[in-house]
Amino acid sequence: MKRTRASVLELFKERGRGAEIGVFAGNFTKRILRQVNPTKLYLIDPWVNFDDPGLEKSWYGKESKYDMELMYQDLTEQFSRRVANGQVEFLRGKTVDMMHHIEDQSLDFVYVDGDHRYDAVKIDIEMAYQKVKPGGHIAVDDHVLGYWWEDGVVRAVNEFVGRYPRDISIVACDENQVVLQRHTTDIANGLTDDAPDFEDIETVAEALMPQEPQIAANTALPEEKPQGLVSRMSSLFGRSSTAEV
Ligand SMILES: C[S@@+](CC[C@H](N)C(=O)[O-])C[C@H]1O[C@@H](n2cnc3c(N)ncnc32)[C@H](O)[C@@H]1O
Repeated sequence: MKRTRASVLELFKERGRGAEIGVFAGNFTKRILRQVNPTKLYLIDPWVNFDDPGLEKSWYGKESKYDMELMYQDLTEQFSRRVANGQVEFLRGKTVDMMHHIEDQSLDFVYVDGDHRYDAVKIDIEMAYQKVKPGGHIAVDDHVLGYWWEDGVVRAVNEFVGRYPRDISIVACDENQVVLQRHTTDIANGLTDDAPDFEDIETVAEALMPQEPQIAANTALPEEKPQGLVSRMSSLFGRSSTAEV
């Protein structure tokens, strides 16, 4: 199934608690509110036109046609009722400075769409991970190469997944969206510390082997061939290969 930004939202827990990192004019925020209807949604964004040569081509660089201050004023007005009833909370600032306002493991989802450069995405995903509950989702937008952020998003996501092989899995990756899920504690705890060594595998294989038939004492024995693990497993599962590993 093709996942668009709308269908990514189908993975987020309805009436859950979440955050959007990188809000801009709030277009996706409105979709989150409509489709997921969270009980709480934190909106994290500095809404600043940064004077940073690395952001020249971004929507929020100094030369951008968008005035981020005006955008923020407009957005707070549009969401004033939701802010008053506690559903929406603005956290104006960079992720690194704002995330401490959110309790650890308290969110069901985080949508990451802030500064797309490698160092920033790395921080955003790590902090999102701290804040999502086991079972929660982290979706990252613009998981794609070839734009001004180069390999920033793809590299940061790949490294993150590699850092937590027992705790994180990719549940969707399409249309430049990647959705990660934090495993539940039970699954993470169910994994052992050590990979089984070869002797353990041999023991398991022995246990799986069918018992040798009883042979009468005076029966001539067939010529004995040495059998290693693979050939024994092959005979067990009916494969013809006898290659050893
Ligand atoms: C691509 S826009 C977000 C678009 C929005 N999610 C949407 O789909 O409509 C990126 C936003 O990230 C914000 N941003 C830049 N640096 C950030 C940071 N360090 N932490 C959080 N947000 C950041 C920018 O101000 C900008 O509004």
